[in-house]
Amino acid sequence: MANRYAIILAAGQGTRMKSKLYKVLHPVMGRPMVQHVIDQLKKAQLDEMVTVVGHGAEKVAEHIGDQCQLVIQEEQLGTGHAAMQAEDLLLDKDGTTIVVCGDTPLITSETYQALFDHHEQENAQATILTATTANPTGYGRVIRNEANEVERIVEQKDANETELRVNEINTGTYCFDNKALFQALKNVSNDNAQGEYYLPDVIEILKKENEKISAFMTVDFEETLGVNDRIALAQAEKSMKKRINEGHMRNGVTIIDPDHTYIGPDVQIEPDVLIHPGSIIEGDSVIKSEAEIGPHSEIHNCIVGEQTVMKQSVANDSNIGKRVKIGPYAHIRPEAAIGDEAKIGNFVEVKKAAIGNGSKVSHLSYIGDAEVGTNVNIGCGTITVNYDGKNKFLTTIEDDAFIGCNSNLIAPVTVGKSSYVAAGSTITKHVPEDSLSVARARQTNKEGYASRIRNRK
Ligand code: UD1
Ligand code: CA
Repeated sequence: MANRYAIILAAGQGTRMKSKLYKVLHPVMGRPMVQHVIDQLKKAQLDEMVTVVGHGAEKVAEHIGDQCQLVIQEEQLGTGHAAMQAEDLLLDKDGTTIVVCGDTPLITSETYQALFDHHEQENAQATILTATTANPTGYGRVIRNEANEVERIVEQKDANETELRVNEINTGTYCFDNKALFQALKNVSNDNAQGEYYLPDVIEILKKENEKISAFMTVDFEETLGVNDRIALAQAEKSMKKRINEGHMRNGVTIIDPDHTYIGPDVQIEPDVLIHPGSIIEGDSVIKSEAEIGPHSEIHNCIVGEQTVMKQSVANDSNIGKRVKIGPYAHIRPEAAIGDEAKIGNFVEVKKAAIGNGSKVSHLSYIGDAEVGTNVNIGCGTITVNYDGKNKFLTTIEDDAFIGCNSNLIAPVTVGKSSYVAAGSTITKHVPEDSLSVARARQTNKEGYASRIRNRK
């Protein structure tokens, strides 16, 4: 096998996106487009990868970091000019170079590998990855001669009537003999409708030198979608979502409505998980077997244990145990650790708090900066008063404690093991273990007083 290199073209601003964000950083299923491209190329195990980024595109360079070598294209003079920027790094190398666009996020490593293999088997100097589509608008068209050999690629804006009717398109991905690529790039001109140096012109240049040009047609046009505007971005999102969801379904996950279920590319889901419509699971989340998510739940970077049920709720950066019941309408904020068989009910917010196994916070409570033991019952409307405007303080509630409804626990404070806090208490001092704490005004009844008030006039 020849040495293999990649050039990723990612310097275009992406005018048609009408965005402050560089095009290749627009996310598809939560991950920047260019990252999808890099991830798939990484799987193909290449010898070197070079990404071409635009001048001033710190954000792109920052995102890519040391995943690839970076070269800067000072001015965006076209894809041919962009590829040329990799010359200093690759010029003298023997082997095959794949050139890919940073805006084709759906192409898989299998397709890249198949293209490499085809190119090397055919002994071609250039091989274009092509696809056919009923609506080729916007893409470069692949022009073949009578012998059906590829002659050149013509861009949409430079094509005549007949050429526009061709429905075999250039996907923007090619393999080249590395040295032949840089040799031919020197002869690319910008004499065309857009005044740009077109990479696809390399094909015609090599063909005229009687070099072997090949085309490798993929059956799946959808995979080669190039994202130039927000309409294509939504299409890419849709395709990627479908691909991810189908992968999970094949692995034994039930997704009731895959069109309305959004699962990020890094999420792991075990078999027999049930996902209801309108759910979004993102980041490095792990959903363990037989959990039930949704309808309408959002989970970001969480571990959700076996058989846990989470309805209409939001959870971020937290650890949720087994057989937990969450929601409807709960908010689990970062650094929460919810123990097994716990319950976090409606309109409960938990933040940076450990809730022990079997503990229940069933309704309308805020538990922040807290350590709650096992089998604790927290009554409706309980607040851990954790913030004095400057600093956050810890509330500790020990095992088996019972907090009556509508209590304020003014941190720092501890409620000892097995103690009761009476409903409506405002607790400012530590509650020793095995005690009852009542911290509210005593009730006085003035009998007959109501009618006295009524009869005053
Ligand atoms: C390009 C191809 C077209 C093909 C289509 C497939 C050319 C001239 N045309 O068109 O034949 O059908 O892709 O999706 O190549 N870029 C740079 N520097 C530049 C210009 C672009 O790095 O100066 C990068 C962009 O960031 C992008 C990629 O090259 O990732 C493609 O550029 P784009 O402008 O999107 O080309 P298309 O018009 O889509
Ligand atoms: Ca494009």
